[in-house]
Amino acid sequence: MNTIAFYDTKPYDREYFARTPEAHQLHCQFHEFRLTNETAASVGGARAVCVFVNDRLDAPCLRQLHQAGVRLVALRCAGFNNVDLTAAKSLGLAVVRVPAYSPHAVAEHTIALLLALNRNIHRAYNRVREHNFSLNGLVGFDLHGKTAGVVGTGKIGKITAQILRGFGTEVLAFDPYPSPAWAAALGVRYTDFTTLLASSHIVSLHLPLTPSSRHLFNAETFASMKPGAYLLNTSRGKLVDTTALIETLKTGRLGGVALDVYEEEEGLFFEDHSGEILQDDELSRLLTFPNVLITAHQAFLTHEALSEIARVTAGNLVCFAEGQPFLAESVLVDCPTPAPASNEHTAPALSRGSASL
Ligand code: NAI
Repeated sequence: MNTIAFYDTKPYDREYFARTPEAHQLHCQFHEFRLTNETAASVGGARAVCVFVNDRLDAPCLRQLHQAGVRLVALRCAGFNNVDLTAAKSLGLAVVRVPAYSPHAVAEHTIALLLALNRNIHRAYNRVREHNFSLNGLVGFDLHGKTAGVVGTGKIGKITAQILRGFGTEVLAFDPYPSPAWAAALGVRYTDFTTLLASSHIVSLHLPLTPSSRHLFNAETFASMKPGAYLLNTSRGKLVDTTALIETLKTGRLGGVALDVYEEEEGLFFEDHSGEILQDDELSRLLTFPNVLITAHQAFLTHEALSEIARVTAGNLVCFAEGQPFLAESVLVDCPTPAPASNEHTAPALSRGSASL
C-alpha cells in the first residue's frame, strides 16, 4: 500500500480528510511538524508527501525526498511559492495542488477584515466587555462611494471585487491578464498599477507571490498610495515589505492595514505561542498599532474549503496510488506515476506525533 506522509497537520485537516470516501484506501502518516530540508528524513518509506503553505520544499529538501523514494508532492493549498517547481520537474517529482478550494472563503474573510478594521469592531468588542460604552475614536467611513483597488483579478480577486460592488464601492483593478468581459459586466475598471494606487481608498491584494511580486508593496509603493488608504493582504506575506510598512504606519500615512498573512509567519502562525515571549520584533511592533488588524492565515478556514481541500487531495492521492492521471486542473508538474516498489507494501513505523488512518 502507498504511504503518504502529511506535514503541518492540525486536527481539522485530519478530521476532514478522514471524512472523504477515499481515505480508507490510503495509508497516511500525519505529522504535526513542518516539512523542511531538516525534517525530510521523517518521510520514511512514503511515496507521496502532502504539505501546506509553510512547509518549505526547496531543492535540497526535494532531493532528499526523491532519494527516499517520494514521487508526488500534493499541496493542500492553492499557492505554490513554497515549492521549487523547477527542481521538482528535474527530479521527476509530480506536484499537484488544490487550485480553488473556496475563493469565497478568502474573499469573504478579506471583507470581514475590512469591515472590522474600518468600523473598529475589534476595539468596540473589547470596550463593551469592560462596560465601556464610549464611542470616542471609533469613527469609520462608508464603503459606499469609495474606491477600492483590487490587485490580481483571479478567482479570489474577482469575488472580492463583486462583494465590494455590492456595497456601492467603485472598483479599480490591475492584472497583467485582465478579464475585460467580467469587468464590463460588473462595472469594474482596469487601470495601471500607479493609477490604482493613487486613486484607491482601499487596496486589496489577490496576486500570487513570485520572485517579481516579492515586496511589490514597499516604501515607494506606500508613498504612491492615497493618504489615509487601507491596505488588505490576504494573499502572501512576502508581497509586503514589513520594515517599510512599519515605517509608513509610524508616519500616519496609511489609514489602516489588515493582514491575514505575514512575511515571517512560518513557524509562528497556526500555532499557540501564547505562553511564550514573542521573538519577532516586527510582528510585535505591528501588533501595537491601533489601526492594524492581523489574523493568522485563517482566510481559507471554512467548512466548505476544508471539505474541498480534502476531496481534491484524497482524489489525487488515489489517482497516484492507482497510476491514474491526476485531476487535470490541479497539476503543477506532471510526471508519470511509477509502480510502487515491492518493499513499499510494508508500512513504516509511525513517528511520534503521527497517526495512521
Ligand atoms: P488566481 O491564480 O486565480 O489569480 C491570481 C491573479 O493574479 C491572476 O489573475 C494573475 O494574472 C494575477 N497576477 C499575477 N501577477 C500579478 C501582478 N504582478 N499584479 C497583479 N496581478 C497579478 O489565484 P487566487 O485563487 O485568486 O489566489 C490569489 C492568492 O491568494 C494566491 O496566490 C494565494 O497566495 C492567496 N491565498 C490565500 C489564502 C489564505 O488563506 N489567506 C487561501 C488561498 C489563496
